[in-house]
Parts: sequence; C-alpha cells; structure tokens
Amino acid sequence: MTSVDATTTEAWATLFRLHAAYHPDLRGAFAADPDRARTFTRTCADLRVDLSKNLLDTDILQALVALADEVDVPGRRDAMLRGDRINVTENRSVLHTALRRPRGDALVVDGVDVVAEVHDTLDRVYAFAEKVRSGAWVGVTGKRIETVVNIGIGGSDLGPVMVYEALRPYVQDGLECRFISNIDPTDAWVKTHDLDPETTLFIVASKTFTTLETLTNARICRAWLWERLAAAGVLEDTDAARTEAVAKHFVAVSTALDKVAAFGIDPENAFGFWDWVGGRYSVDSAIGTSVCVAIGPESFADLLAGFHAVDEHFAEAPLAENVPVLMGMLNVWYTNFFDAQSHAVLPYAQYLHRFAAYLQQLTMESNGKGVRADGQPVTTTTGEVFWGEPGTNGQHAFYQLIHQGTRLIPCDFIAVANPAHPTKDGDQDVHELFLANFFAQTKALAFGKTADEVRAEGTAEEIVPARVFAGNRPTTSIMAPALTPRVVGELIALYEHITFVQGTVWGIDSFDQWGVELGKQLALQIAPAISADDAALAEQDSSTRELISYYRSQRR
Ligand code: F6P
Repeated sequence: MTSVDATTTEAWATLFRLHAAYHPDLRGAFAADPDRARTFTRTCADLRVDLSKNLLDTDILQALVALADEVDVPGRRDAMLRGDRINVTENRSVLHTALRRPRGDALVVDGVDVVAEVHDTLDRVYAFAEKVRSGAWVGVTGKRIETVVNIGIGGSDLGPVMVYEALRPYVQDGLECRFISNIDPTDAWVKTHDLDPETTLFIVASKTFTTLETLTNARICRAWLWERLAAAGVLEDTDAARTEAVAKHFVAVSTALDKVAAFGIDPENAFGFWDWVGGRYSVDSAIGTSVCVAIGPESFADLLAGFHAVDEHFAEAPLAENVPVLMGMLNVWYTNFFDAQSHAVLPYAQYLHRFAAYLQQLTMESNGKGVRADGQPVTTTTGEVFWGEPGTNGQHAFYQLIHQGTRLIPCDFIAVANPAHPTKDGDQDVHELFLANFFAQTKALAFGKTADEVRAEGTAEEIVPARVFAGNRPTTSIMAPALTPRVVGELIALYEHITFVQGTVWGIDSFDQWGVELGKQLALQIAPAISADDAALAEQDSSTRELISYYRSQRR
C-alpha cells in the first residue's frame, strides 16, 4: 500500500514557512483576540477540547488541516472503518471500531457480518458477567466469586487495568479485580497470596494464547488453585477433581480457542475475538471481560457507546472540527517542526492514574516505527514518548521541567466537572481546589511570568532569572461532565484516533509491533544458558556471558 510522503506535500512546505516565521507569543495572541478560546475550542461527544493554548494561529491550523487532507487522512480513515487490510505487514483489517458498533448495524467484511459476530460474543460475555455478579456462578465448593484475577500482558492487561481503575465507583460491592501481568513471580505472589481459592476466578486473557508471561502465570495460578484447594481439604487427588476445579475457576479470552482448550479450559468458558482487533485496541472486546464482570453489562455497554460516539465524530466531522484529527496534527506539528520528543498526559482525576501507562502502549507500540508501510525508511521523525501522572501529584515532581526546562513538552490536561466523591474541607469544596490547580497550570504554562512581574513582587535582582517563566508551553485542556463509563470510552477512542492520524501522516503501519519480537526470541534462546547449559553460555556475547556468570555466582 503506498501513501503520500507528507514531506513532499504543499502543506508541509507551508508549515515549514509558517514555523520559520512563527514567534510563540500566547500572551499576545490572547490579548489580540478576545475570542481565541472560542475559536480554538471544539466538542467531541461529551468532551470539550480547548486547543487555544497551543502554539497555533488560524493559518497554522488551516495548514495542518490541509496536510491531513493531502496525506488523505479521510481516505485512510474510511479504509480502516470499512475493513480494508490497512495493517499491511500482517495483512489484516483494523476493525476495533466494529467492536462498539450498535446492535443491528451491519459491516460485512470478507462475506462475514462482523458486527453480528461482535454482538454474539458480547451477549456471551454479558451472560457470564451476570452469572458471576448474581452469584449464580460458583466455585468448586459452591461459594460465589469475590475476586476476579485477570492474567494478561500488554493490551490484554493495560486496557482492563486502566478502565477498572477509572471506573472504581461503578464496581459492584463485594467484587474485586486484580491483574497479573509480569513474569516476575512476585506479581503472581502479591496478587494471590491473600486470596481464598474457593472464591477466586481467573481470566486468562491473551489474543495469541502463546505469550510466555501469560501462559507461565496461568500455569502458576492453576497450580496455586490446586494446592490451596487441596490444603483446605476441598480437592480430591484425582485428575477429574482438578479438571473440575479449572472449569469452575478459569475462563479464557483469546482468538486461539484451540490453544485455550489445550490448556485445559473448557471452550464453553472461553470468549473469542478476531485477528482484526489489535492487542492495544482490544479493551472493548472480550478482553474487557474482567471489567464487564466488575461494572456490569449495562455500564460496559455505556463504555462502548462512548467509544462509538467518538468513532462517529471521527468519521463525520469536517477535518477542521474533527478533534482526533486536530490533536493528531498538533502532535505532528510539535514532533516534526518543533522537535518535541515527548508528550505528557496529565489527568486531574485520580481514578485515571493508569491512563498514561495505557497510552504508552497505544501510542508507542503503534507509532514507534522507522519504516513506512511500503518498507521504505520514514522521511521524518515519528512517535513521541508518552508519559504522565495524575495532577496534582505531578506538580510536585516533574512539572518543574515542563515549566522551566529547556525541552518543549506539549501536555494534555484532562479534568471532569463533577468529582467521584464530593468532599468538603470546612467550607472549601475540595474538587474546586483541585480544579483550581488544573486551570492554574495551563495558565502558567501558556503565559509564564515576566522579569518585570517577578521584580514587582520585590524579588532580589540576582534571583529574578530563576523565577522567570518563559510561558508559551503548549497545552490542550480536555474537560467532561464526569468520569462515567461513557466518558472513559470517549477518551480511549479519542487517543486511538489521534494515534491513527499521526501514523497516517508518517506513512507507517500503526497496527503491527515487530519491534517487540526480537527480545522475545532472544529470551527463549538465552534461557537454557542461565541455569546450567555451559555450551549455550559459551555461545553468548561477552557481556551477556559475564552477566549470566555473575547471576550464577550469586544465586543461592
Ligand atoms: O508486546 C507485544 C504484544 O504482542 C502486544 O501487542 C500485546 O498486547 C501483548 O503482546 C500481549 O499479547 P497476547 O494478548 O497475545 O498475549
């Protein structure tokens, strides 16, 4: 699949010119145009997105939109939405948007109505979730399930954890989810050591059902289940009893249902999805089963409706009004014209504390690529480093560098109008105090503080420079009424499409992840050398050999 090289377009040349002539002055821009906030604020479903504190003017915005047009963002978007095989290196469709299309919609790809299949699976997941929530699903000793442990990694973990944490207030009383991802055995130990096996249900979530970490952890948890049930005197020492325990305490989510059966999980207790769902785009598939059990089918359907509302906006809004397009193009503007290396996402909502971690996989596994989809080297830098922490914690940690450091770090600030837990400190509404910080930070970053303003505070001349804030640090403010399932779905879909827009401009395949393969292969190759195989050790490079030798000398 060939695509236009963005750097050869007319819009790119225009942006190059505009950048050369642009002298960031957000104070001046706001003073000159009292309508600036309104001019650059857009709405996307329930999200109100203020772009006005970005380094842009109407000419720049127009040129960014023209670039999106010239590289054919609309055409590529439509190709994705209708199921063309735009994941060229894996020869797959990219249809996570089909996961949230309403029942009754039809999308036929290769002769199959994928939306009908999605809803068949959703119905099974919903029925299962209801059984667990109502207590109809019981463990081997007849007790209802109290803890659901999701075992997965990457997209089979980060999405479910993030959404579960984001929607804590929606979790049914008496139910808890835990998430095991790391092959460091500490993770499985920490998450299981205090659990009652009789009331614990494991969900093994793996698209491929071949991932070393997940399968190892699944076996560790299966052994834990058998040992603990036996220790409690409620498991007979027979294969039939062990099989029965797995049937009552393990379910699976995968595209490889044959491998699920080989592991010993009854296919009746397995939920499928499709190779056209990328791992990092899969929380809204059956991979979200843990979340669905926790918050219930109704809230899960609201989550999906939020995703879909943003999909519709992305599909239909004109480019200049299209929030994912504008945010994606601004990221291109900063990455390729201002040489920004990273992008901070700063939610002022404690429940979004895993959002940045989730976005790291979404954005960096998608757009951390050095070749174009046709195999040619890229012609621009690609992929920013995404990072962040909830405000206000970040304010007391790394904001110093954003405010006064030498690097340009575009930031997305996210806040909601209504708190999950309204709280007063005396007469003070604490959420308002929290929001005051949200508003203050973007203001400080945009407008800074001049030397004269510092002097006017009576500051000694020699420390004036240290207290000056240059300002012109770009931010986008995203606000929503409350952190509901729908809004969480909207936020995720927003960033999915931002990622897509950037990948399209850079001409890369945002849906493969070959970069993670080499390390996986080498880990398997190196494993025999670690404990005893001296011949395998001798084959390693000198650094690896010495490191392993050190390990051998230290192990007890
Ligand atoms: O890290 C590579 C990766 O393939 C991710 O893309 C994926 O989300 C993760 O591993 C887990 O894969 P699986 O769901 O197949 O276990």
